[in-house]
Amino acid sequence: MPSTEAETEAARASELLAGGDASGAIAACLRALELDPDCLSAHRTLARARLPGDDYLAWLARFHSALAPAVYLEIGVDAGRTLSLARPPTRALGVDPSPVAPRAFAAPTRTFAMESDAFFASPRADAALAGAPVSLAFVDGLHLFEQALRDFRHLEKRAARDSVVLFHDCLPLDRETSARERRTAFWTGDVWKIVPVLARHRPDLEVFVIPTYPTGLAVVTRLDPSSTVLDERFDAIVGEFTPREWDDSAAGAVPLVENDAETVLRRLRRSHT
Ligand SMILES: C[S@@+](CC[C@H](N)C(=O)[O-])C[C@H]1O[C@@H](n2cnc3c(N)ncnc32)[C@H](O)[C@@H]1O
Repeated sequence: MPSTEAETEAARASELLAGGDASGAIAACLRALELDPDCLSAHRTLARARLPGDDYLAWLARFHSALAPAVYLEIGVDAGRTLSLARPPTRALGVDPSPVAPRAFAAPTRTFAMESDAFFASPRADAALAGAPVSLAFVDGLHLFEQALRDFRHLEKRAARDSVVLFHDCLPLDRETSARERRTAFWTGDVWKIVPVLARHRPDLEVFVIPTYPTGLAVVTRLDPSSTVLDERFDAIVGEFTPREWDDSAAGAVPLVENDAETVLRRLRRSHT
């Protein structure tokens, strides 16, 4: 039973959505959030109503089956829900400073209980890769854009041109849930800035965002392991982008594609030619 007025409104939103009324559901979620700006069920239903179609777990599974990556590297493993989507013969590597709950992985999987910067600075990263490039990566670790940018620099140096790097949380719900400081249970941090940063400073990359639940998935291809642009401009980029906040102009600049398998896979194939 909903225990607050906000939760009652969020429950109504959920019913409206289940009945196919997405705009009614969105309006009810916004009313719930006026009553309680930290109403988790309202945030979740709002994301569901705005981002219909396959969610990010379905997309990760699709990338695994479409690309059959030799090596998958995940930053931010938590309970292993996404790491477990890798399938043999993919070799899966997961990096997360918090201990990962024991879980059965279908693919041969190694986890490293350390922060991503420490992992890449240690000999363990190159030893684990054993000379192979990272073919598919998923960045879902510390939710600050400068960390996501550092993660990308490390990954690109260990990738091949046709490797694919995915970033979670690049289509946030609103300003409140995409702030650098966490104020809400539903929170993406400012990882979304990775997309405008790459668009501005690395126009040679192909970058697009799938509007998938809960907060979008950015896809980056046409990598250049020899590029030093982001290393050279790192401090200037952090200085410029740190103060920015999510607003209509940021939302309008997101290079969205349809949440549709054929559209995305066609675009990937094109970027690999
Ligand atoms: C949102 S969870 C990952 C969820 C998982 N990918 C999934 O979809 O189920 C984020 C994880 O990032 C980890 N994390 C935080 N800082 C990190 C860092 N610097 N390097 C790697 N992982 C980090 C946290 O411990 C947490 O488990």
